[in-house]
Amino acid sequence: MDSSLAHWLQLREASDAQSRSTALTRDIAAVVAPFDTVNVLDLATGAGSNIRYLAERLQGRQRWLTVDRDADLLEALLERMHRWGHGRGYDVNVGPDTCTIRGPRLDCHIETLQLNLRVLHDRVLFAGRHLVTASALLDLVSESWLRDIAGHCRAENAAALFSLTYNGRSTSEPREPEDDLVLELFNRHQTTDKGLGGLAAGPDAAAVAEQCFTEAGFVVRRAASDWTISPAERDMQRLLIDGWAHAAREIAPRRSRTITAWHGRRIQHLDAGHSHVVVGHDDLAAWLPRST
Ligand SMILES: C[S@@+](CC[C@H](N)C(=O)[O-])C[C@H]1O[C@@H](n2cnc3c(N)ncnc32)[C@H](O)[C@@H]1O
Repeated sequence: MDSSLAHWLQLREASDAQSRSTALTRDIAAVVAPFDTVNVLDLATGAGSNIRYLAERLQGRQRWLTVDRDADLLEALLERMHRWGHGRGYDVNVGPDTCTIRGPRLDCHIETLQLNLRVLHDRVLFAGRHLVTASALLDLVSESWLRDIAGHCRAENAAALFSLTYNGRSTSEPREPEDDLVLELFNRHQTTDKGLGGLAAGPDAAAVAEQCFTEAGFVVRRAASDWTISPAERDMQRLLIDGWAHAAREIAPRRSRTITAWHGRRIQHLDAGHSHVVVGHDDLAAWLPRST
């Protein structure tokens, strides 16, 4: 496993949960409420943060297929669901690739599948799904990937919920003169090929997804889900600032000295306990009108 990715996903989970749009979550919960058992597909599920956020909000019987290319993250997902379920007083059973969590208002079966989602040709993945979801994914995928997923959702009459798509708008306080430069370089890096269908939609992903789903006949709603990260969340800020600098240097190696100097000053603000960071995200929910 990429242990740094596992660590990052663990660090961000609380901020993700605080930032997500409760209104869009409620919309989607209402859309899938009529089904006795809700069949959910969670794409690029990582260690399962999206399941831990949604399961109790969807309530009732749920069958999740959770897909990621990283087998170790999927193993971590089962361990974390086990801890999460026990912590909330549920009965939890974990098998080799599955996990069942049961309680008075929740009956949740989770199956993990290791698969590279580079292309979305496998219709079986989508067959019979009522909800297709992903968190922190869409900015990594290409426009054609988004068009394909809208088509699959349309073919299955499935609703969609995509949370925490980075939208390119971040601010840091106190300000530094190179903040805008580094943000521009980072955003450019976000549009390189991330292995999901070609050049990534990057900061435009939520807008492109909105267009693809609208053209496919869906009702589409978007809402802000920005992170507001306080000085106390030092580890998370540290990884963010390191990541911005790393990506900016990769895109513009000739600006390395400027970027390194900027990085040093941002870390000084962090160490002094007065660094505030806001990272812009969008949530998107889409569903087909009943008559369609
Ligand atoms: C930013 S993480 C988000 C993980 C999780 N959804 C969450 O919110 O914590 C992106 C995830 O995409 C997965 N991923 C990236 N490229 C992939 C690919 N080509 N096929 C399948 N999974 C992929 C990574 O392994 C990682 O788990």
